[in-house]
Amino acid sequence: SNLPIEMHKVRIVQKLNLIPIEERKEKLAQAGNNTFLLKNRDVFLDMLTDSGVNAMSDRQQAAMLQADDAYAGSESFERFEAKVKEIFGTPFVLPAHQGRACENIICRTFVKPGSTVPMNYHFTTTKAHINLNGGKVVELLCKEGFELESDFPFKGNIDLEQLETHLKKGNSAFIRMEAGTNLIGGQPFALSNLKAVKKLAEKYGAFLVLDASLLAENLFFVKKKESEYKDKTIRQITAEFAENSDIIYFSARKLGFARGGAICTTNKEFYEKMKELVPLFEGFLTYGGMSVREIEAITVGLDETMDEDVISQSPLFIEHMVCKLKKAGVPVVTPSGGLGCHINAGKFLPHLKSSDYPAGALAAAFYLISGVRGMERGTLSMDRDENGNDVPSDMELLRLALPRRVFTLSQVEYTVDRLTWLYKNAGIIGGLEFFDEPKILRFFLGKLKPV
Ligand code: F0G
Repeated sequence: SNLPIEMHKVRIVQKLNLIPIEERKEKLAQAGNNTFLLKNRDVFLDMLTDSGVNAMSDRQQAAMLQADDAYAGSESFERFEAKVKEIFGTPFVLPAHQGRACENIICRTFVKPGSTVPMNYHFTTTKAHINLNGGKVVELLCKEGFELESDFPFKGNIDLEQLETHLKKGNSAFIRMEAGTNLIGGQPFALSNLKAVKKLAEKYGAFLVLDASLLAENLFFVKKKESEYKDKTIRQITAEFAENSDIIYFSARKLGFARGGAICTTNKEFYEKMKELVPLFEGFLTYGGMSVREIEAITVGLDETMDEDVISQSPLFIEHMVCKLKKAGVPVVTPSGGLGCHINAGKFLPHLKSSDYPAGALAAAFYLISGVRGMERGTLSMDRDENGNDVPSDMELLRLALPRRVFTLSQVEYTVDRLTWLYKNAGIIGGLEFFDEPKILRFFLGKLKPV
């Protein structure tokens, strides 16, 4: 069979704890059944997210020792800027402390009350920033993207016809394309789709913002699945992504195996507009809220992202996980995506309604029976509408993220084994309801109890 293999070796380790189930039950109750509120020491395998928890390489650690500490004019930033320019070809680079900080700057600059932001699909923090500035998200995902089980290779594609119809209305702040579309299961879009979006943008005088947080795996999928690009290098493919975007931003908690963020562009006017907000919200232009050590680590991490053997790891391990679960009959999102394995909680728990928060209930139950921490990506992650009603999510997913270069194959196998057991016993899982519910981004801090 096609076993994936680690293209790195372990040289520093962190001990894991697997606390007994009775203790997990207690910890889960204390966390209000919200996996965000668990303490890491009570978690066995942390598959909550791939954000800020990727493993660094020896080269990254070495670079961190050479960081140039300076409030202004740090050489670490110069090296970072040069690497971003080399990879994306963009002369202007703005640092920010993480992805949503980039979104804050972009949205404050370009989103006006009443404007729309058409996109393939929203991300939670992006939507919050667009709404905060009086704008509205318009999702134009291709119809295949909504089919949880599919063999369509690019479920992150935007529907071009709908986009054109929307752009004709003329009130769009910008078009946003999210690489490795997070909330629909880490699904990539095709480079040909991006190119067509860019053409439409030009035709209607709009511009295109690329969220490149999950670009690494999207690059790999383009090379593997889009025949036109199979003989191109990852660097060449990256350059084509960049040429077809007007502004690129990324969370370096995902892209670059460290922690931070950046916005880059070839458009001087855009740069000048956004630049003013960086010292106000982030810090001076040569650190933007990041530590210089992290800046050094990202610089090397971006370079490593151009290596196919590095960026293939997550997609191949996730593919293995998805194949095994599918064989065991567990409902999973297919094709396998780039940031984790996504379980179809709606189908896993057919006896629950969306108002029972099936994905949240599954996340809680899975921690209880395995010690593995996943993340709810469903109705719980949607905030209520202006009338206080739940907004049912398009999909109810339990995300089991695979942070890059962190887990071994046997840890993946353990997860598959436990999930298969839970699926056979899914009848024991009941719904959840809030007893402590924040208004914005409620999934982070809200607490729930069994219905
Ligand atoms: N865009 C995408 C596609 C993301 O996945 C994230 C973060 C952000 C923007 C925001 O970046 O966290 O650095 O502020 N996703 C994390 C996750 C939170 O767990 O999926 P950030």
